[in-house]
Amino acid sequence: MKVLILFAHPRLSRSLVQRMLHDAVSTLPGITFHDLYAAYPDFMIDVAREQALLLEHDVVILQHPFYWYSAPAIVKEWLDRVLEIGWAYGPGGTHLQRKFLMNAISTGGAETAYHHGGRNRFEIAELLSPFNQSAHLCGMGYLEPFAVFAGRWMTSEDLALRTSDYQGLIEGLRDGHIDPMHRLAKGYSLPLAFEGHRSHKKRHAT
Ligand SMILES: Cc1cc2nc3c(=O)[nH]c(=O)nc-3n(C[C@H](O)[C@H](O)[C@H](O)COP(=O)(O)O)c2cc1C
Repeated sequence: MKVLILFAHPRLSRSLVQRMLHDAVSTLPGITFHDLYAAYPDFMIDVAREQALLLEHDVVILQHPFYWYSAPAIVKEWLDRVLEIGWAYGPGGTHLQRKFLMNAISTGGAETAYHHGGRNRFEIAELLSPFNQSAHLCGMGYLEPFAVFAGRWMTSEDLALRTSDYQGLIEGLRDGHIDPMHRLAKGYSLPLAFEGHRSHKKRHAT
């Protein structure tokens, strides 16, 4: 599978966790790593370029620190500008169908805080639901998020292990050892765009 990583960290020079994840995957062969803040320091996103990149890939990873229970601002700008009606969704908006989307995030909060009754009151999956539903609207599969919780408080050994988990996931998706259909987010119901595709494949298999 062709993997596109859209990376967003507004202060990479001060980053620890995302820097580790960045360094583990940014130069992997066969992966397209695209640093949005580096490409668009003025936020003037080149929509045609971004859409062309999306067309060339099967799996899109949004890799970013978790900011205000969501993503840094450029990710929102990217969604607002690139996922146009008539291209990504709506009449004629079929270009992302049967591709996959995943968030790869780092948080300040501990995993135990992301529960009902915990300090952050919601599960991470609930907080990421706008991404989940945006993927659904565009006919994409939404994958279980990859999260490094409270990475800045981890020992360097534990952070290195999580980093290598991430690298393994990206390589597995790239090489086909990990089937994205087996990594869909919990409870995710595939959009209709996949139905035709699956029965089409089944017809050809018999
Ligand atoms: C503007 C801002 C907003 C943040 N919002 C959250 C948040 O909502 N939840 C959380 O767990 N951590 C939050 N954090 C902490 C970051 O997610 C955390 O420091 C980061 O993921 C660590 O990665 P880094 O070392 O690459 O920056 C926030 C940090 C900043 C600067």
